[in-house]
Amino acid sequence: MTIRIRDTWHLPDQKQAGRRIEKHSPTIRGLNITEKQRAIGAGKTYFISTYGCQANERDSENLSGILEACGFTAAADASEADVILMNTCGIRENASNNVLGEVGSHKKHFKARPDTIIGVCGCMVQEEHFTRTLLEKYPWVHLIFGTHNFAELPAYIERAMNGEKVVEVYSREGEIYEELPEHRQGRYKGLVNIMYGCDKFCTYCIVPYTRGRQRSREADAILDEVRTLKKLGYREITLLGQNVNAYGKDLEDAMDFAGLLEETAKTGIERVRFMTSHPWDFTEEMIDVISRYDNIMPCIHLPLQSGDDEILRRMGRRYTSAEYMNLFNTIRERVPGCSISTDIIVGFPGESDEAFEHTLDVVRECRFDNAFTFIFSPRPGTPAARMEDETEEKTKKERLFRLNALWNQLALENHQKYLGQTVQVLVDGPSKKNPNVFAGYSQHGMPVNFTGENIHEGDLVDVEITDVHTFSLNGRKVGE
Ligand code: SAH
Ligand code: SF4
Ligand code: F3S
Repeated sequence: MTIRIRDTWHLPDQKQAGRRIEKHSPTIRGLNITEKQRAIGAGKTYFISTYGCQANERDSENLSGILEACGFTAAADASEADVILMNTCGIRENASNNVLGEVGSHKKHFKARPDTIIGVCGCMVQEEHFTRTLLEKYPWVHLIFGTHNFAELPAYIERAMNGEKVVEVYSREGEIYEELPEHRQGRYKGLVNIMYGCDKFCTYCIVPYTRGRQRSREADAILDEVRTLKKLGYREITLLGQNVNAYGKDLEDAMDFAGLLEETAKTGIERVRFMTSHPWDFTEEMIDVISRYDNIMPCIHLPLQSGDDEILRRMGRRYTSAEYMNLFNTIRERVPGCSISTDIIVGFPGESDEAFEHTLDVVRECRFDNAFTFIFSPRPGTPAARMEDETEEKTKKERLFRLNALWNQLALENHQKYLGQTVQVLVDGPSKKNPNVFAGYSQHGMPVNFTGENIHEGDLVDVEITDVHTFSLNGRKVGE
């Protein structure tokens, strides 16, 4: 279907999204909402499905808060909701395909109840080709908005409820949002944004285009949020950013990440996590702070991407495999028992068999506790999508298989060290498979399933490990 572009629409422009011009990012406080908009959701419900990373999870908490500020309440299921939002991810093609599958499935809800507002937002709609597909093939979608303009959501909903097809995707460097309404998912574990966007422009990655430039929040606002969460009974917070180590580099006279991490630890909240760390910005001071505070969890996500120096250079990662391993070994020495997980891409354009072997060499050396492994997925508009790629899909799949077999085996060996040890688990609740077994995470970020009496969500429980697996540990509450 060819679409008629309407004057009122704002469509994504990825070239524009990749520009970095402004020096300072404006801060927007609170929600833009009229008295009338505060009542548009009265008696109506919403449902949000969230794809992608924790940045999207946190955004969905704000989207829920905003819809509730409009009077909507949460629906248990999409089929009964008056507003359905899909908060999407476009990091790899299969992420987008999953979203399109869901968008397709809502056609029946729209047919059954044509007043239902079906909306798509988040990273994927910042990608030109995807928004075009939505407009051409999914006419039941009546609300499309990007990652930059949440505070306007009440107006968008009002317009969509009046029968308008709303398309508001801005390709700008972005703002910092403070004081937006929120409905947090967890009662004991909270996500805290410390920065938005990314300026690293790794050649394969779409994030700098979907989320704009790196914008750090003021440290006082972050620390106030942590203190408030602590008062509310939260026991664990995760400081969130695409590159937490680069925190503050875009602000004048600001704290760096080591300083922010230390101040966060000093609030006394019981558990502090952070992600994601780019090896390039990881400083000695950060390692020092992590080693000095017991409430900073010994658990670091440190994406490697490739173990081959030429591929790393073409990815624009700005470190060599030797520099990565040096950092890795320093962390392991200075933070005893620290678990380190990673991300690896296989089949990047030009990756030879030999280059892939270099990745396996680093994996053998590092024995990661966990790894998220992906086949390279060309993202239209990124430099790597234009690089020549002669490796067959079959070869890429074989590489992924070999890589997974290797890290799984090494992680399983590595996790034997936990046998007989006592770890501390923050309880998420009964396990999905068995109500007599409880599930939660250890300090090291390992999922732990354990038995015991008198256990509740949010408890911190000492658990003796009796059994280890590649992805999880089993145990029993100490003293039982
Ligand atoms: N900011 C984080 C990464 C966010 S994306 C960092 O720099 O570490 C999460 C992971 O998705 C990346 O680490 C990378 O391994 C993977 N990824 C990103 N773009 C990809 C692509 N085009 N194809 C395959 N994997 C990709
Ligand atoms: Fe993407 Fe690289 Fe930024 Fe991570 S650091 S979000 S991989 S561009
Ligand atoms: Fe996906 Fe956007 Fe996160 S592309 S990984 S949801 S930043």
